[in-house]
Amino acid sequence: MGRVIAVANQKGGVGKTTTSVNLAAALGRLDKNILLIDLDPQGNATVSVGVDKEALSVSVFEVLVGEVKAKEAIISVEHACVDLLPANGNLTAAEVTLLEEDMGPKRLRKALKKIRFHYDAIIIDCPPTLNMLTLNALTAADAIIVPVQCEYFALEGLSALMGTIDTVQDELNPNLHIDGLLRTMHDRRNNLANDVSNELVKHFGVKVFQTIIPRNVRLAEAPSHGESVIDYDASSNGAIAYLALAKEWIRKSRI
Ligand SMILES: Nc1ncnc2c1ncn2[C@@H]1O[C@H](COP(=O)(O)OP(=O)(O)OP(=O)(O)O)[C@@H](O)[C@H]1O
Ligand SMILES: [Mg+2]
Repeated sequence: MGRVIAVANQKGGVGKTTTSVNLAAALGRLDKNILLIDLDPQGNATVSVGVDKEALSVSVFEVLVGEVKAKEAIISVEHACVDLLPANGNLTAAEVTLLEEDMGPKRLRKALKKIRFHYDAIIIDCPPTLNMLTLNALTAADAIIVPVQCEYFALEGLSALMGTIDTVQDELNPNLHIDGLLRTMHDRRNNLANDVSNELVKHFGVKVFQTIIPRNVRLAEAPSHGESVIDYDASSNGAIAYLALAKEWIRKSRI
């Protein structure tokens, strides 16, 4: 049965979407059946794999509010080797609707029940807030991957996230655990980045992925071409790093 992974960190711009898209595409290239879920009203993951977010007839919004089944909203994105449950700005409205109901945080888990065993893994790109959408992702997930940009305030934000994970474990999803913290946009010539990276390992030990994602311009360029970095430039350091992450994650999670 597909392992459900939430890629989350309430800090903005740390590499959640880049990680969701390229880890999904790397796993797809390694012959895994992957569903990528865009759970961010910004729709960045949707656009990053070349889908026009303004032209969607249905999206994850309709799935969350129960208007359509997940399989009716899933699009096959062949060049990226993934299926996509897309999002756009309509998703902002789901936040309000879901806040009003008891089932609110459990909607995504329910929606994935029937489809999760079609996949080896389901990767959810979360928005940069600890809101009802992220709560849905953490309630549906078996595990969480936390991208961390190695800069001064990186560790500060992590305690809020760890607190939320504790609450979700207590109240909604006792099986949720952390698959790993991922160092992103790393520049090894930068002393501060190296210091923060070492601090992370000191605090979280083996929970930190060995693979480090370097700062690489190809990773920033690929979304504007609607391609994963593996399609866009397979020989780039960014592509090599995300393929290495996919292999490390397969070894760790045994999918
Ligand atoms: N390793 C990297 N090297 C260079 N640029 C990167 C790298 N990772 C991400 N970026 C760029 O940094 C920006 C932020 O990345 P991304 O969108 O993945 O972060 P995010 O956490 O999803 O942001 P948000 O919180 O807004 O959803 C993007 O422009 C992206 O292309
Ligand atoms: Mg994002």
